[in-house]
Amino acid sequence: MSHQGMDSKTNKIIVILTGAGISAESGLGTFRGAGGLWENHRVEDVATPEAYNKDPLLVWRFYSMRRIQAANAKPNMAHEALANFANEEHSNFDIHLITQNVDVLHQRADRFHRLDPICMHGSLHQSRCTSCETVYFDDYAYFDLEGNYAPQNTELCNADQKASPHYLHHYKLDYRNFLPLSPCCKQPIRPHIVWFGENPMFMEKIIPLVQSADLFVTIGTSGVVYPAAGFLEMAKINGAKTFCINQELIPQSGVIDVFIQGSAGEKVPKFLESLKNLS
Ligand code: OAD
Repeated sequence: MSHQGMDSKTNKIIVILTGAGISAESGLGTFRGAGGLWENHRVEDVATPEAYNKDPLLVWRFYSMRRIQAANAKPNMAHEALANFANEEHSNFDIHLITQNVDVLHQRADRFHRLDPICMHGSLHQSRCTSCETVYFDDYAYFDLEGNYAPQNTELCNADQKASPHYLHHYKLDYRNFLPLSPCCKQPIRPHIVWFGENPMFMEKIIPLVQSADLFVTIGTSGVVYPAAGFLEMAKINGAKTFCINQELIPQSGVIDVFIQGSAGEKVPKFLESLKNLS
């Protein structure tokens, strides 16, 4: 993303990769920590295409719960600092954000749509038709936290998305099976989320971006899930200065130039502030 009125040729390209750790201070569980998301559910039961084929209602119960949790969370200082940084005309950087997170918190902090994150693992506020793969904005939780069928609007979509012809209204349901249906094919929809065994989204855009980075920064990711876990090395090989902001060391320490240990809410605003002194 380039800033209006700036000569983008003189700007440094900063590419940021975020993971679940950046949302921890918003109250959302990470995946691998104690009590993490995958500790409470078997991945195979809720986050694989096989699980959806076997028991789509169980999968929709899980993702309804995640939509409710995400909607109840608020962007924290780290999300806000990134959005503000992208919005500052005086920045010497073109900032690009890749996120593995599906929680929509980056987008909710990005009020002026300057950050526009690339959501490589999909997003909780979207669903897609299982037949033709049309993607819809969909912020309904179809089940409540007890798993009862009780559709509610979580308001994860913003006003523009709700006004879009691709906003999915929950009344299009297969009432007999409690499965939400697509308006295009009248077939069940599924969460627009990358499940285990599926390919991440937007890789054709992400790889050249990582390779073009002058600065590459990971925030709150454990560095164990590929292909995202390989981006630090890819950026380093292509000449980027690499940074990692995380609460714990990650396996890629050999290719990290600067490791900043601590919480994202505290360290990210300080880090971005320090960049403003670089020319
Ligand atoms: P993980 O749960 O694997 O890692 C979160 C990282 O954030 C850990 O290294 C923590 O130490 C760190 N952390 C926790 N709290 C933090 C805080 N307040 N500030 C800074 N760091 C903090 O989550 P991800 O790396 O995002 O994929 O997981 C990657 C992918 O694995 C996810 O996108 C998901 C999962 O399976 C799919 O669902 C496809």
